[in-house]
Amino acid sequence: MILDHFRLDGQVAIVTGAGRGIGRGIATAFAEAGADLALAARSVAELEETAAKVRAAGRRALVQRCDVMQRADLEKLVDATLAAFGRLDTLVNNAGGSPPKPALRTSERAFEHALRFNVTTAFLLTRLVVPQMVRTAGGGSVLNISSVAGREFAPGFVAYGTAKAALSFMTGELAQDFAPKVRVNAIAVGSVRTKALADALTPELEREMIERTPLRMIGEVEDIAACATWLSSPAARFVTGEVVGVNGGLVGLNMALPRAFDG
Ligand SMILES: NC(=O)c1ccc[n+]([C@@H]2O[C@H](COP(=O)([O-])OP(=O)(O)OC[C@H]3O[C@@H](n4cnc5c(N)ncnc54)[C@H](OP(=O)(O)O)[C@@H]3O)[C@@H](O)[C@H]2O)c1
Repeated sequence: MILDHFRLDGQVAIVTGAGRGIGRGIATAFAEAGADLALAARSVAELEETAAKVRAAGRRALVQRCDVMQRADLEKLVDATLAAFGRLDTLVNNAGGSPPKPALRTSERAFEHALRFNVTTAFLLTRLVVPQMVRTAGGGSVLNISSVAGREFAPGFVAYGTAKAALSFMTGELAQDFAPKVRVNAIAVGSVRTKALADALTPELEREMIERTPLRMIGEVEDIAACATWLSSPAARFVTGEVVGVNGGLVGLNMALPRAFDG
């Protein structure tokens, strides 16, 4: 049966940024598809809420406090996952983000922070995880949560867009390095209703974003989780190095920020 190919039975997955939003949505979907989960973020209270959803789906959950910006925390995350579950099949590099800001007001520090948070942390964790996937499971899958902002040019997105473009490009590079053992894919996410978006959303902005999106909607975390489940499952065993768009058909950003010399 084709739907059986989308199951993750017996797999162990790490999801970073699993305390809320897209990370929680992916972790919950993976548990429903049969995986055990190592849940990583800084807020343990939020991770516990996600863990309750994983356990309600009948799967095991490890809650691991982890700041992805700290190398030692990444090492502890991998060690704790292996100690708890004895194997590792899937990694989702989801923790990331950076608020949009005009280029001339983006500091060196903010620019470098965006690169480290969105790209370097995913590189470091992938580098730690891949040998363990091969050793304990014979191979596996890495999924990077990128953004349509890493594909379309727009004013105000120099730090975030450049960082997500690098994450998307790194996806293809690592897919070549790790084939045929480990597949590496990414999702170019569009606007999805999470706390990160809600904090910036006014009713007018929401109307404008929907109007500028060809499918006339803001996505839900389940829209990303469905694609993540496919890419991490045997149904995608012939897919690697891809950046799959889940963004309502955007061919430009649905948020217009001022240019440096407007007005
Ligand atoms: N929502 C959208 O519209 C959208 C669009 C395109 C791309 N994306 C991408 O999707 C991903 C998730 O975004 P989201 O909207 O779901 O964000 P969110 O709702 O703000 O959730 C972010 C998650 O990441 C965790 N996190 C933040 N900083 C961390 C750190 N240093 N170390 C470990 N975990 C950390 C947060 O927990 P703690 O704060 O407790 O650590 C939380 O669990 C990001 O990579 C983002 O760029 C989102």
